[in-house]
Amino acid sequence: MAAMAGAVRTAAVRGEQPGEIVPAPVHVAIIMDGNGRWAAARGLPRVAGHRAGAQAVRRAIEAAIRHDVQWLTLYAFSSENWRRPAGEVRDLTGLLRHYLRHEVAELAAQGVRLRFIGELTRFDADIQAELLRAERETAANTRLNLVIALSYGARAEIIDTARRIAAVVQAGRLDPATIDEAVFAAAMATAGIPDPDLILRTSGEQRLSNFLLWQAAYAELMFLDVLWPEFGESHFAAALAEFARRERRFGARPG
Ligand code: FPP
Repeated sequence: MAAMAGAVRTAAVRGEQPGEIVPAPVHVAIIMDGNGRWAAARGLPRVAGHRAGAQAVRRAIEAAIRHDVQWLTLYAFSSENWRRPAGEVRDLTGLLRHYLRHEVAELAAQGVRLRFIGELTRFDADIQAELLRAERETAANTRLNLVIALSYGARAEIIDTARRIAAVVQAGRLDPATIDEAVFAAAMATAGIPDPDLILRTSGEQRLSNFLLWQAAYAELMFLDVLWPEFGESHFAAALAEFARRERRFGARPG
């Protein structure tokens, strides 16, 4: 059943051998970790690591486009990140503001459609306005769907969904007995977004850290020994090659 779902989900791409078709992920999600350690190793302030991380974001987007990945989700700011020292929160939100003001036009030109998930109302009003503008101005693009998770926590997302469904039940418009996975998924902020086929985390840490817990049910997980600011095309390509090897083994299983 899961193998079938994988076959339906994945797009076919050319492999190393002529005529060989290998499965490619439709949706790659990335936990971008290690900016602070990258900066510390160079005797730089943490903000320098986040700035270098923003460059790696550009490389990841370009790699996703080059490899025909249709959906890319990036974990840019977790709900827990608000608990960092005020100066670092200011640096991170400042970087986000700068990114939104100066990079959306370039993303739009590349054919990228932007979408944001998370508790966006926790950001300053001007950032919220930029987020809406970015979604509106890229809404017609189809080359790559880029989802950026901001002030995001998967448990909060699941609770929020349960609350919304409960309100519909309370209003007498939904029979609790009819709530199934499809009903639940359709009520989530990620409704309409295919589940990630592949989740990458950089920096060697092996945790999901409250990222896409519902959507990760069948995802392949990969933990890369590279700090996020060093991430580039070669890491992306290697992850896709490993994904293809795993999917081929999976597909070969009996039953
Ligand atoms: C983890 O590094 C990364 C973050 C907290 C945020 C990710 C932010 C960026 C990649 C830059 C900005 C992105 C956009 C979209 C503008 P860490 O600080 O937790 O590193 P550490 O674990 O080594 O301390």
